[in-house]
Amino acid sequence: MREKLSFLLCVWILLCGSCLGRFVVEKNNLRITSPKSLRGVYECAIGNFGVPKYGGTMVGSVVYPKLNQKACKSFDEVRISFRSKPGSFPTFVLVDRGDCFFTLKAWNAQNGGAAALIVVDDRSEALITMDTPEEEKNDEYVEKINIPSALVSRSLGDNIKKALSSGEMVNINLDWREALPHPDDRVEYEFWTNSNDECGPKCDNQIDFVRSFKGVAQQLEKKGFTQFTPHYITWYCPEAFILSKQCKSQCINHGRYCAPDPEQDFSQGYDGKDVVIQNLRQACFFKVANESGKPWQWWDYVTDFAIRCPMKKEKYTEECSNQVIKSLGIDLKKIKECIGDTHADNENPVLKAEQDAQIGRGSRGDVTILPTLVINNRQYRGKLEKGAVLKAICSGFQETTEPSICLTPDIETNECLENNGGCWQDKSANISACRDTFRGRVCECPIVQNVKFVGDGYTNCEASGALRCEINNGGCWKESRGGRAYSACIDDHTKGCVCPPGFRGDGVKSCEDVDECKEKVACQCPECKCQNTWGSYLCSCSGDLLYLRENDMCIGKYGSTATANGSIVWMVIFILAAAAAGGYAFYKYRIQRYMDSEIRAIMAQYMPLDNQPPQVPSHGNQEI
Ligand SMILES: *[C@@H]1O[C@H](CO)[C@@H](O)[C@H](O)[C@H]1NC(C)=O
Ligand SMILES: *[C@@H]1O[C@H](CO)[C@@H](O)[C@H](O)[C@H]1NC(C)=O
Repeated sequence: MREKLSFLLCVWILLCGSCLGRFVVEKNNLRITSPKSLRGVYECAIGNFGVPKYGGTMVGSVVYPKLNQKACKSFDEVRISFRSKPGSFPTFVLVDRGDCFFTLKAWNAQNGGAAALIVVDDRSEALITMDTPEEEKNDEYVEKINIPSALVSRSLGDNIKKALSSGEMVNINLDWREALPHPDDRVEYEFWTNSNDECGPKCDNQIDFVRSFKGVAQQLEKKGFTQFTPHYITWYCPEAFILSKQCKSQCINHGRYCAPDPEQDFSQGYDGKDVVIQNLRQACFFKVANESGKPWQWWDYVTDFAIRCPMKKEKYTEECSNQVIKSLGIDLKKIKECIGDTHADNENPVLKAEQDAQIGRGSRGDVTILPTLVINNRQYRGKLEKGAVLKAICSGFQETTEPSICLTPDIETNECLENNGGCWQDKSANISACRDTFRGRVCECPIVQNVKFVGDGYTNCEASGALRCEINNGGCWKESRGGRAYSACIDDHTKGCVCPPGFRGDGVKSCEDVDECKEKVACQCPECKCQNTWGSYLCSCSGDLLYLRENDMCIGKYGSTATANGSIVWMVIFILAAAAAGGYAFYKYRIQRYMDSEIRAIMAQYMPLDNQPPQVPSHGNQEI
């Protein structure tokens, strides 16, 4: 026992040689919007538990309870509730650091109805990461914390308390949008894990996560949205101990790669080196699968292995593992090559690379705890749980490039339900520019049935393209009456809606029928009788005369009053009519009037117009 302890001590001292390295505190922004005197953006540290709202923001009003200010007791006991009334801001409860674990404070705040926990540091120091204490990790309540928590500096906390005590309302916007970088349309993430399944709830939690996240992870990977890499931590044995029994049972490759004994007892069960070898096998599996272009098979292998080859059933063996590998169609020879000779006194390139990767780079600190999730080179803080992790990964995509899986009900915010998120919508056609994402809503003109809507997404979206009239008639007026249909939609959306001939109006809400008779636009000849219809008009001529719509005039019917020269008359009329139609576009009224008089004059020669003397045209060309 003594021996074991002293050895472990050695390992830990050794470990801390590297873990003293770099630990990066992940932060997000806290913006105080009121009171004016405190207005500004401050930093706060994301807790290592609960569910930070990666990619999103949250607005709330701060309450500093009169009792239980360290939140170590249940707030029910002191009869305080933070549940906000409908229509008011959610409550962010401000508590003091000390006396109990951060996780217990968060749990009490959550049960009291708070939407977020803000812990005020009790000393003046740089922000730290609030963590789950090792001995509390097994407690069920830690897993149930689902509110976000933030640690703020002592000075900021004091200022907030001062403002509150003088009766001011303190409003805060917690902003996690920049908590993770989101430079492009692909997210790189790493999961630092372990094949050991006998470490209690921590190991069970890892396996549960891998199992539940597998489907999502594979989907993201197959479509190229993410690049995932699994990682394994190993340690090395100090030079002086390489030949000791402990190092021999915990390490491979001559003390180069070690893992702690699963039961922490060297005399029974599996040894540390069994874990190292299995970790190496998983890493090699990933390498081989990745080389064959199917990196996502790692998720299958790890879940299948956990189910088929657990330590508990004494199946944590090479044989069992090989069966799983074979069942997944991976070349066993390549895996064996990658593992190499674990007794040899030489380096294994895969494990060497893993050890190098443990050392922090850029925005990421050293990896020293398992499991660790790194997204876009930042360490993820929060619960190792499908929805929470997916939300964080989704926030790693550049806005609006996130895959559709980020919009599934698990993680969406439903901001479109209220007031359509402030975006454009066409209620009658049930078309909205509001798209709900885990980040909150975006207002973006949609594509509906292959018709692209264009516009700013907030106040206006218009259907564009040739198909545009097929959806809600392009947002234009349309009406049908008695079998006649008219539409104000035209193919070119830039011209908007245009009322068809015979109508006038804005083309969107209404087009009014033009009364051609009253407004004297047609059917104005003396023998004409005008009757307005919807969208058009009817014109009839008195007696036996026929109405000629193109010219808006009455003429005699062939065969009734016409002479033998009737056919010539008709020919002349039609030639003139065609000429009139050609000129119509240019000198609509002038030409038309002119033609009228010409025809009148010609006609008068053949069949005197009965009722009236010929009108005198204004252009004075009345004589033939
Ligand atoms: C996996 O394959 C991709 C593309 O072939 C490569 O860029 C990446 O570095 C590989 N990952 C590992 C860990 O080998
Ligand atoms: C509008 O469309 C959405 C999704 O496209 C649908 O869920 C909803 O039921 C529709 N509402 C109406 C009133 O048609």
